[in-house]
Amino acid sequence: MMKFGVCYYPEHWPEARWAEDARMMREAGLEIVRIGEFAWSRMEPAAGAFDWAWLDRAVATLAGADLQVVLGTPTATPPAWLTVSNPKTRIVGRDGRRRAHGSRRHACLNSSLYRKHTVQVVEALARRYGGHPGVVGWQIDNEWGGGSSAYCYCENCARAFHRWLQERYSSLAALNEAWGTVFWSQSYARWDQIEPPGDQIDKPNPSHLLDYYRFATASVREYQSLQGDILRNLAPGHFVTTNFMGLFPDLDQFEIAEPLDFVSWDSYPTGNADRWRKMLQPPGDDDAKADPFAADVGNPHITGLAHTLTRSLKQAAFWVMEQQAGSINWGRVNPGIRDGTPRLWTWHAVSHGADTVVYFRWRATRFAQEQYHSGLLHHDGRPAVGYRDLQRLKAEMDQLEQVAAGAHRAQVALLFDFEDLWALSIQPHRHGFHYLQAFFVFYRALERMGIDVDIVSPSAIGDRYRLLLAPSLHLADETLAARLAEQVRAGAHLLLGIRSGVKTRSNLIVDAPLPGPLSELAGVTLRAWQALPDGAALPLSGTLPGLEGGAAFWAEALQLDDSDPEGARALAHYTAESSRHAPDEYDSAPALSQRKVGAGCVYYLGWMPSPDQAQALLAFLAERVDVEPVASLPAGLVARRRGDRVILMNFTDRALVARVGGYPTEVAARDAIVVPAAP
Ligand code: GAL
Repeated sequence: MMKFGVCYYPEHWPEARWAEDARMMREAGLEIVRIGEFAWSRMEPAAGAFDWAWLDRAVATLAGADLQVVLGTPTATPPAWLTVSNPKTRIVGRDGRRRAHGSRRHACLNSSLYRKHTVQVVEALARRYGGHPGVVGWQIDNEWGGGSSAYCYCENCARAFHRWLQERYSSLAALNEAWGTVFWSQSYARWDQIEPPGDQIDKPNPSHLLDYYRFATASVREYQSLQGDILRNLAPGHFVTTNFMGLFPDLDQFEIAEPLDFVSWDSYPTGNADRWRKMLQPPGDDDAKADPFAADVGNPHITGLAHTLTRSLKQAAFWVMEQQAGSINWGRVNPGIRDGTPRLWTWHAVSHGADTVVYFRWRATRFAQEQYHSGLLHHDGRPAVGYRDLQRLKAEMDQLEQVAAGAHRAQVALLFDFEDLWALSIQPHRHGFHYLQAFFVFYRALERMGIDVDIVSPSAIGDRYRLLLAPSLHLADETLAARLAEQVRAGAHLLLGIRSGVKTRSNLIVDAPLPGPLSELAGVTLRAWQALPDGAALPLSGTLPGLEGGAAFWAEALQLDDSDPEGARALAHYTAESSRHAPDEYDSAPALSQRKVGAGCVYYLGWMPSPDQAQALLAFLAERVDVEPVASLPAGLVARRRGDRVILMNFTDRALVARVGGYPTEVAARDAIVVPAAP
């Protein structure tokens, strides 16, 4: 069932106003209201002294107006009596400085005192509202890792890290081996000699750092379970979720999502486009040239990738727990939002798998950090753009419900692994290199081509995909190679991209020709690899169309075994001219290979494709695996299929025409329309 909701902060408003707000919410078409996630100091004004009277009345008022309440646990905002009086409950940054009280997310998840008070407040909250008929579910905490809080370097974390390492490695000998600590005399003789890898003079050890990132995710998961277990016990029948942050890279979202009933995320299309563009697009890849998006919509490919990742965390429908509904206060420019844009964002979320969209926030605040952030109502209580768009959406509820009842059936999957992302961010080797660039170039090309895609973790691939795209399987092992081989033998086509099979799980380079454990499957070894200077490109030749522009940014020269009749064949070569920018190994070396394996095929792509090259390559692959686009689209128009419907969304300022099943359909500027999918 499709639902709309809103984030509300009763503690910010006079109690005399609550009933009017609740009435207006229902009238506007809202059914869900999320409250409480930052109200710890109101719930527990002094240690152990709970005040539930105000929250009882707030829940009663909202539930009395027929709103379903989602309660946030308030642990993202521990009060002064806890974190000012006990400085050791606060996060220590990479620079060794303890973070100040006065904002949020300042507590260390490994502090035993913070955990003790977490248990007390969550238990009290769950006892009080776990059986309340007006409450439907819980949001644990708020945005794990937000405000650079994913990694803490305090003494609590050091001790917890030692315990985590002992469990992982059993012996110091194994750890020293796995981290290569003989280098720069780092060998450890006692667990407590190992410090969090924060403030070293020169670079920290990459294996140490990778384990610290894993440990940070494990700390969040453990802390989340501390709360989750209480809620499951004391609030049976209520759902338990948390709100993720889309492409936020510091924590492994697959791991954290696993114990939740469903996932949700906070979608701020204008701010997120600003924030993530650099990590997604290599220098010189200017989206504005290809996609003429309107100034206030953000970038739907970037928002779409985050929606897709969120849906993919559990391969299931999700909520948007906070949907931007007007201008925000934390982007670079924070443009004004025009009528039609919040509706377009809502349809976009639903097309990608959302079945509940909760707007942030009911009414703009007059005080504190977010004064310049919009709400559905202006500061003075008049309806704002988000409220007006909600009225249009309310009138479209039948259509939204029909779409939300449908499932996604992408036949193409992108393989995504947070550990690969971390390893490559620790040693990017080239300025401006980010794992997500190799990923985004394929995602965006697929969207422009109107081809639906899922994101899967390499540890849980599943067998419904015809085309598996692995932009960079950096940390690979035999188990992964065997899993991929099984899919390929059964008929999948697999594309392996640059920097695959380079490292072991502990972040050491493999002791074998690259791509290490993936060589046999691909039928390829690397003669050479290198980063290319800005502006340099190795010319390419081959049977594949669309190789113009050559190989830029990063290039790998392949070696094939021509004597093996079952071996790989080249689809593209570096030309002899490549010697201007690269060593001799590149001269006429294969740059893209293909090998038939069982009923499927493996390709190895030795360079980071440009947007046009990615599109040409995907057109070639889509034809080979017989995957049809859901629509043919001009730039700026985006399409998704959900169930037997296609949602066409125009993110530009002028009308555009798409073709679905060969038939033209005009979509007005900033409009979203639903058409039947081609049979
Ligand atoms: C979110 C956060 C909210 C609010 C919002 C403003 O990231 O969860 O509490 O700060 O941003 O855009």
